[in-house]
Amino acid sequence: MTRQRGKFITFEGLDGVGKSTQLNKLAVWLRQRGLDVITTPEPGGTEIGQRLRSVLLSSRTAGLTPRAELAMMFADRAQHVDELILPALERGQWVLCDRFTDSSEAYQGGGRELGSEVVLELHRILCRDLHPDLTILMLSDPARSLARARRRNVEDARNTQKQEDENRFEQESRNFYKRVLKTYLDIAKREPGRVVEVQASDPPAKVHKLITSIVEKRFFGPGTR
Ligand code: TYD
Repeated sequence: MTRQRGKFITFEGLDGVGKSTQLNKLAVWLRQRGLDVITTPEPGGTEIGQRLRSVLLSSRTAGLTPRAELAMMFADRAQHVDELILPALERGQWVLCDRFTDSSEAYQGGGRELGSEVVLELHRILCRDLHPDLTILMLSDPARSLARARRRNVEDARNTQKQEDENRFEQESRNFYKRVLKTYLDIAKREPGRVVEVQASDPPAKVHKLITSIVEKRFFGPGTR
């Protein structure tokens, strides 16, 4: 018997928008339906990726050029796709990924102004033509999300007393985040069949309900099997 390939769902949005909370809630909901689900982040979904993550996100990393940053994001992603994501999908597991190539397009392409083309080309070369079946783009007021992300990182640093923080991106300017958001919206416009926008400023339970209704319709509705 050939097992059906699992589904690949990604979560995107600005820092602090509540992606991880919603991703974990969706994983619980899917598991209750009897599905085998794994959740994984970018950067840092593999052991090698975690080492790249600490370089990429630490505010002690000075002088990393935009192009080198993009290359490291893709080194993380290529390892993630080869080692974890594709084998899991082929085993029939569902993979929920906290950020994927849209993040590189939004942050490095938009935020760092490298443009979309180089990002999409790297994806084509390095990621074995893997595209999400569905992308949940979580949107909320940028100033609010960023304030939340900064608060959370300060608390994390206090609780874990780690040498490395994860604040390098949170120190970026408002204009940087405006460009990130604009690129996300452009991606959603370009690929409406894959990317669904979700207003994230509602209470988490309401956002969860909306996300499950999108997933229900997309994967379990009439005519989907
Ligand atoms: P994440 O751990 O998701 O942080 P948060 O929960 O605050 O959203 O992501 C870490 C940071 O890495 C985030 O600021 C976005 C950035 N990033 C990129 O710039 N490019 C990428 O390709 C990825 C995957 C992440």
